[in-house]
Amino acid sequence: MAVDQQERDSYTGYLTTGHEWNGIKELNTPVPRAVYFFLALSVLFSVVYWILMPAWPLGVTYTKGLLGVDQRTTVAATLNEAAIDRSVWTRRIETEGFAAIQSDPKLMEIVRNAGRTLFGDNCAACHGHDAKGGPAYPNLTTSSWLWGGKPEDIFNTIRVGINSAHKDTRVSQMPAFGRDQMLPRADVMKVASFVYSLTHPDATTIDPKVDPKIDPKTIEAGKEIFAANCVSCHGDDAKGNPELGAPDLTDKSWIYGGSLEAIDTSIWGGRQGQMPSWEGRLSELDRKILTLYLLDKRTVTP
Ligand code: HEC
Ligand code: HEC
Repeated sequence: MAVDQQERDSYTGYLTTGHEWNGIKELNTPVPRAVYFFLALSVLFSVVYWILMPAWPLGVTYTKGLLGVDQRTTVAATLNEAAIDRSVWTRRIETEGFAAIQSDPKLMEIVRNAGRTLFGDNCAACHGHDAKGGPAYPNLTTSSWLWGGKPEDIFNTIRVGINSAHKDTRVSQMPAFGRDQMLPRADVMKVASFVYSLTHPDATTIDPKVDPKIDPKTIEAGKEIFAANCVSCHGDDAKGNPELGAPDLTDKSWIYGGSLEAIDTSIWGGRQGQMPSWEGRLSELDRKILTLYLLDKRTVTP
């Protein structure tokens, strides 16, 4: 059928387009008004948006828009707010006393979070992620401290270290009584048995035929050797001396192990643990947070 011959569909009343496919003809229906309306609306919206908001790239710059909205300034503002927030609590942790911080739950929450990260990054390699230590590295979650457990003591230990290169380092040494021939082999064994019995009271009741090393007579002899050689550092009651970093030998907090063999090895060969100084490496704030973090861990873990 020729295109110029317009044909009206008798059923709908619309003209046809003149196209025909196997007897099916296409109606020439107008686009619905709503479509034009929404098209116009979106064009209008785009134009308004371009005017108000950053939109078109112009080489090295872009159209900024009348509202001056900029994601970069928004981010900068948020960061600034966070920094102000941070400086408020860092100033408080820096200036307030240990007890005041410990009694403030909000500050302690910050201490716990920041402390966990600081400890993980700097201390966990030696003291373990849970701060419970391991052979030759003390457990920092008990109430047994080599150098005293007051906040100031712990803070200072972290600052200067133990047997470290710091000029004010804490210095300690367990002499090598056997290797340096201060005591004969048999005496080292005896005093080891005595030290072992302090944490194993039932050792005295074990039949010496079963274990001759812990014969009550051996322990008795060891006690005398202890009084003569060890009390100057570990104390008359063997409870240690925080002035000298000498550990309490009556509790179950062992640095090098509490078996008879480990104790014997400590006395025979001596011990001199080394803890780095953190003064040059961590800020005073970070060291204070770590001190509070450790004290807090101790109250959490019995
Ligand atoms: C290179 C290993 C090492 C690292 C890292 C280390 N320490 Fe130590 N720390 C030790 C050793 C070893 C001792 C025990 C020294 C001794 O036997 O006298 C110790 C002792 C301590 C003590 C004294 C414990 C007491 O009973 O008085 C504190 C507190 C301490 N460390 C805290 C920390 C903190 C906090 C960090 C991280 C900033 C840290 N340590 C990182 C090895 C380490
Ligand atoms: C000069 C002081 C000094 C004298 C004397 C001394 N000790 Fe020690 N002893 C220490 C110090 C300090 C340590 C901790 C060493 C370390 O942490 O590396 C220690 C550690 C030990 C340990 C290991 C504790 C643990 O937790 O693993 C044993 C066991 C011990 N001493 C027994 C003795 C006995 C027994 C004598 C006497 C024969 C003695 N000490 C004499 C200072 C001394």
